[in-house]
Amino acid sequence: MRKKIAKLEDLPEGTTKRFSFQRDGMRVDAFVANFKGEIVAYENLCRHLPITLDYGDGEFFSNDGSLFVCQTHGAFYEPKSGLCVAGPCTGASLIPLETEQTDGHIFLVR
Ligand code: FES
Repeated sequence: MRKKIAKLEDLPEGTTKRFSFQRDGMRVDAFVANFKGEIVAYENLCRHLPITLDYGDGEFFSNDGSLFVCQTHGAFYEPKSGLCVAGPCTGASLIPLETEQTDGHIFLVR
């Protein structure tokens, strides 16, 4: 599957964008982020409890922009690796999604 998820110009450094896709007929919530110029994407699913990180408001970065944060119980995740470095699920990792960039667009590829 290859799905267009964002324009690169619409995702400046330090921003995120929610998107969803279908897997086996089920909707999967996800997000893509520009972390210091690197595009990363993960399923929007905390590894502590099966709920979204952002409460639906599209906010994923911590205040200083160095980590992703789960708004429910405050778990922190490293943007590049998805590893939870603080909080109730320390040591677990966000589920990564593969992306590629073509002609100024970001695609989800699987
Ligand atoms: S649900 Fe994310 S830290 Fe508890």
